[in-house]
Amino acid sequence: MSNVIVLGAQWGDEGKGKVVDLLAERFDIVARYQGGHNAGHTVFIGDRKFVLKLIPSGVLRPGVTAVIGNGVVIDLAALLQEMDALKAAGFDVTGQLRISNRAHVIFPFHRLVEKMSEARENRIPIGTTQRGIGPCYEDKTGRRGIRVADLFDPEAFRALYDTLAEDKRTLAETFKLHEPIDYAQIRHQTEQYAAQIRPLVCDTAKLLNGAIAQGKRVLFEGAQGTMLDVDHGTYPFVTSSSATAGGASTGTGVPPTKISGVIGVSKAYITRVGSGPFPTESDGAAGDLLRREGNEFGAVTGRPRRCGWFDVPLLGYTAMVNGFDTLMITKLDVLDQLEEIPVCVRYRLSGAETCEMPATYRALEAVEPVYETLPGWRCSTRGIDRFEKLPDRAKAYLRFLEERTGVEIGGVSTGPERNETIIRSGSRMERLLA
Ligand code: GDP
Ligand code: IMO
Ligand code: MG
Repeated sequence: MSNVIVLGAQWGDEGKGKVVDLLAERFDIVARYQGGHNAGHTVFIGDRKFVLKLIPSGVLRPGVTAVIGNGVVIDLAALLQEMDALKAAGFDVTGQLRISNRAHVIFPFHRLVEKMSEARENRIPIGTTQRGIGPCYEDKTGRRGIRVADLFDPEAFRALYDTLAEDKRTLAETFKLHEPIDYAQIRHQTEQYAAQIRPLVCDTAKLLNGAIAQGKRVLFEGAQGTMLDVDHGTYPFVTSSSATAGGASTGTGVPPTKISGVIGVSKAYITRVGSGPFPTESDGAAGDLLRREGNEFGAVTGRPRRCGWFDVPLLGYTAMVNGFDTLMITKLDVLDQLEEIPVCVRYRLSGAETCEMPATYRALEAVEPVYETLPGWRCSTRGIDRFEKLPDRAKAYLRFLEERTGVEIGGVSTGPERNETIIRSGSRMERLLA
């Protein structure tokens, strides 16, 4: 049995799409377990670029089944659009894609609710992706949400929909939002979309567990990152789902006893999109350089990503809550030109030094990073595919991160393309993927 989770160890955009696409050829199924089209997972095949949002990144590997699990929230229009775009690019995914009958549905009025909560006086704006993700999860946990299976029971759907729509109408009126929303038209459109996806819908927990029982291998693809997890992240500056390893079980119905390992994906530095605390943020020239060299602009919203230095306490914390077996360090090549590279090794908080992650965003805003500085290697690592071929100082940098975080670095990404990757021989990562 070798079913593996690949997830983000920082604040998202670590390069999960690249890693999942690369590893998918060794698996039978790739399953997304949370989030929605707030995700933007970039995959390069040669110089062709694909940005996967709702559809698992493994779908670009012929023969790999791509599952959208019950923990995902689905905007049907966005899903159909993504499928159409892939088809136009030569990837008809209908034969590969399976959608959980228990996943929740995002409606256009969820975006309205989101606008309201982001703009209201005295509310903390999170800087969300404005995709209606949070409000859909609110309806899910509020036990008034609508699931994919409900779409195929016309009477029940209409009753559920009308009640939900009435709630949103009342909210909009109360908060004086005068956006014209045609609730009846949305219902009609949803029924049409539902008919289009129907052949792809099934009990994906049954599909996944059945496949595992037959000895097939599943790769679980996380979206967002651990520090955006609704429980373990920098609350309230988080997304609304469980991006951590535990989410792979709740979001697919595959029990933890059937999952054999967790791969954390982390940049060789760190970025964040949206608001919230960010101890190692470098908003000066160094941050600009990272943004330029790393092309750090949101894959979904195009927003410039905030950039900063590798944060050891943060990685130690995300390793703890996920139980990382091994790390894939991405974008090492982005650091190629730096003379020196600061790494945050501890936090200073209220006069004391600590490696712990504080529970409140206020405390995390107050921490002062303590840095150690390593020499840069000042030559190109782009495309290097064996650890031994890396410049000595790049090896030393990686060994430093490995030693300080206490987690093996089993893989290194040295460019956006599939083959620009190192999997270290003799590593735990190699064994997990064997
Ligand atoms: P994800 O959301 O975790 O899948 O990451 P994104 O796709 O949002 O952002 C990662 C970006 O970095 C994408 O543009 C990738 O093509 C790119 N990328 C991934 N790995 C590497 C790498 O090792 N080097 C460089 N230069 N770019 C990379
Ligand atoms: P991938 O999968 C980076 C951030 C948003 C915002 C917060 C909440 O590509 O790594 P939401 O719309 O989810 O309610 O926004 O989470 N965010 C991401 N940041 N990568 C992502 O996905 C993200 N998905 C959401 O910027 O701060
Ligand atoms: Mg992304």
